[in-house]
Amino acid sequence: MRLSVIGCGYLGAVHAAAMASIGHEVVGIDVDPRKIASLSKGEAPFFEPGLQEILADGIASGNLRFTTDMSAARGAKVHFVGVGTPQVKDGYAADLTYVNAAVDELLPYLAEGEIVAGKSTVPVGTAAGLAPRVTATGATLVWNPEFLREGWAVQDTIDPDRLVAGVPAGEEGETAASVLREVYHPSVAKGTPFIVTDYATAELVKVAANAFLATKISFINAMAEIAEVTGADVTQLADAIGHDARIGRRFLGAGIGFGGGCLPKDIRAFSARAEELGRGESVAFLRQVDEINLRRRDRAAQLVVEALGGSVFKKNITVLGAAFKPHSDDIRDSPALDVAVRLHGLGAWVTITDPAAIANAQRVHPQLNYVEDRDEALREADAVIVVTEWDEYRRELDPQHAGSLVRGKVVVDGRNCLDAGAWRAADWEYFGMGRP
Ligand code: UGA
Repeated sequence: MRLSVIGCGYLGAVHAAAMASIGHEVVGIDVDPRKIASLSKGEAPFFEPGLQEILADGIASGNLRFTTDMSAARGAKVHFVGVGTPQVKDGYAADLTYVNAAVDELLPYLAEGEIVAGKSTVPVGTAAGLAPRVTATGATLVWNPEFLREGWAVQDTIDPDRLVAGVPAGEEGETAASVLREVYHPSVAKGTPFIVTDYATAELVKVAANAFLATKISFINAMAEIAEVTGADVTQLADAIGHDARIGRRFLGAGIGFGGGCLPKDIRAFSARAEELGRGESVAFLRQVDEINLRRRDRAAQLVVEALGGSVFKKNITVLGAAFKPHSDDIRDSPALDVAVRLHGLGAWVTITDPAAIANAQRVHPQLNYVEDRDEALREADAVIVVTEWDEYRRELDPQHAGSLVRGKVVVDGRNCLDAGAWRAADWEYFGMGRP
């Protein structure tokens, strides 16, 4: 099927390449000429495992191309809109400028029977607001939220755990849903749940999922705060409650909390939208979810201070990680980088290393010291803090070897990802988050 994908960021670039990899003929469109130049050469403009391969294959096969010219969307059966919806500068709401602009610029190229499929995360009510403009061209608007995780984006796009389509009522909606089923034919054929619903539900599914995940993380981090004053161990607590299938162990990783381009802004936008709808109190807990999350960054910095006897002033602190999570070079609202900035603010000499995110981090925080090589970064450290649980630190860093490089064997495990016993056995003072 001929498809267009408007917006070639994390979501759109992966979607375009993934759709080409399952046999569609895809054009990706973005206003940023640099991004388009890189994608057109088959080069991923950001770090995402597996993307490079399917991009290069798509370009080589002729099934995938990229352009800044919106008229290239003409003739596609489905037009996916995957532009960003960042937090507005003066509040918590989502900024819909890019969604509105993308749809408006697409309108002249739409024809009868085509489908515009919104993938961006938007406040509930957005699709209903956009629909009349799309319908006037003879095309149909559907809302088809995306649930991909960075670091697993290719796999999540090609083989998602569910597909959701918000469609208009009646025959028009049914036809649009069957076209989307065709688009996602490999997943549909293997029985992936395909939920057809109305616009509002589809929009809400997306924000509700992210709100739930954020709440789960902040719940366990709240337990970590209680563990800290009682001597309990939050990781054992998470293991124990996680055995209950109704609770589940995933997303009960206590530590410095969630960040990235989605969870933080999505819970804020959800609160803002609920307030506009007169139902602010229904999701008032999301403010606390946000606050608990941000407190953990302070706590991590405070642990380093305590571990070094009350001050980090003029101490060498090595920060392992900058990305908001492993397998990503994304530093948007990264708790890892935030902790590094806090320590720098307290007068520490901070050295950061990360397998993928140094270039991005350096651009935003040039005041910090970055070192590519992990061992080089560890040299002469008075304390080490792990803030992104890359395998390079979690599995591959031998505490004996690390001990031979540093000046002080003090380690703060901001992700509760190290084997505390092994580090203590190698003479390190180990401090976890919510662990004795
Ligand atoms: C999140 C959702 O998981 C995706 O389903 C969704 O599609 C995406 O947002 C989006 O809206 O686009 P992502 O931002 O890639 O995906 O990252 P997650 O894997 O959800 O992790 C978010 C943050 O939570 C990271 O900083 C991670 O370190 C943190 N986290 C995760 C914890 O602190 N503890 C955990 O147990 C799990």
